[in-house]
Amino acid sequence: MRVVTARKYGSPDVFRVENWEIPSPQKNEIRIQNHNGAVNSADWRLRKPDPKLVRLFFGILKPKQPVLGISFAGVVDAVGKNVTKFQIGDKVFGSTGMQMGGYAEYICINESSVMTTLPKEISFPQGAALPFGSLTAIDFLQKSKIQKDQTIIIYGASSSVGTATIQLAKHMGAVVTAVCSAGNFSLVKSIGADFVMDYDSFHSESHNKTYDVVFECVGKSSIPSNLKHLTKGGVLVLVGASFKDMFQAAWISLSRGIQIKFGPIKETLENLNYITELAKKGKFKVVIDKSFPLESMSMAHQYVEAGHKKGNVVIDIIN
Ligand SMILES: NC(=O)c1ccc[n+]([C@@H]2O[C@H](COP(=O)([O-])OP(=O)(O)OC[C@H]3O[C@@H](n4cnc5c(N)ncnc54)[C@H](OP(=O)(O)O)[C@@H]3O)[C@@H](O)[C@H]2O)c1
Repeated sequence: MRVVTARKYGSPDVFRVENWEIPSPQKNEIRIQNHNGAVNSADWRLRKPDPKLVRLFFGILKPKQPVLGISFAGVVDAVGKNVTKFQIGDKVFGSTGMQMGGYAEYICINESSVMTTLPKEISFPQGAALPFGSLTAIDFLQKSKIQKDQTIIIYGASSSVGTATIQLAKHMGAVVTAVCSAGNFSLVKSIGADFVMDYDSFHSESHNKTYDVVFECVGKSSIPSNLKHLTKGGVLVLVGASFKDMFQAAWISLSRGIQIKFGPIKETLENLNYITELAKKGKFKVVIDKSFPLESMSMAHQYVEAGHKKGNVVIDIIN
């Protein structure tokens, strides 16, 4: 099978296409013939790595797992002897989590992973693009305990996490203001934003409005600039917080009693099923910017690392 590997840390040029034996599933695993993967912000951060501390858990000198890629969508083509949830021929999609291995033609994965049946309303590319941003968005929205008719401002609204947050917050009954480049206004409006604002307007002196939830998706604005727009008793969400942000946020929470949510999310099957149901009913749209063939992984990483994708980037593996 074709596999794309990163056998050392570094620039997008580290990727190589290799030929591997097709793996056999263990007794609780299914094997998936992988039609589509995705390149997410987490992928290039691990490849680089960024931050450098990633080496502590992902391999000091080189990546412990040379096959990156978290999201997948494909067809079950073999099952282990104890598997009960899936059968050969099922279409499935989901997240391998920190097991990774998504940049490959075949993946073996435990049947109890964050993975579900791909409904006929969702294509393979959409299935591969759905998990990353939406599972992050829903986890932080749940932590923010956002209520119907509350206001939320989403900074970096055209990102993978942002495009999912707009739609899920609307579904929860919130009033959504999306902050993004003017070129992305029509995109964010098309998926439900009630109001739009560009980055300069967000930071301008005249922007004095406050919101029940300030949802910073991309780690590009300072904590004080976000706190300025937080209603008393509101919740600040820092999806892309750096270590420095986390220390600052923890201190502010402690000393001023402000609710700030940050840190790694937990991907759950329950949340994947919830979002899948919305997508099936046409109430959640997966935003796909571009797709690249598996062999063009370096170009895909360059594009995603540049930081201006709209929604998600998909990898075509088997057509
Ligand atoms: N806590 C967790 O567990 C968790 C989970 C997932 C992701 N994350 C983090 O969440 C962040 C977002 O991830 P993602 O995959 O959604 O990102 P992404 O899709 O790669 O973000 C791309 C978006 O960022 C915007 N952007 C770039 N530079 C900007 C700037 N200076 N100011 C404002 N917006 C800017 C771009 O808009 P323009 O083109 O208009 O500039 C673009 O739409 C990342 O930092 C990621 O590491 C954290």
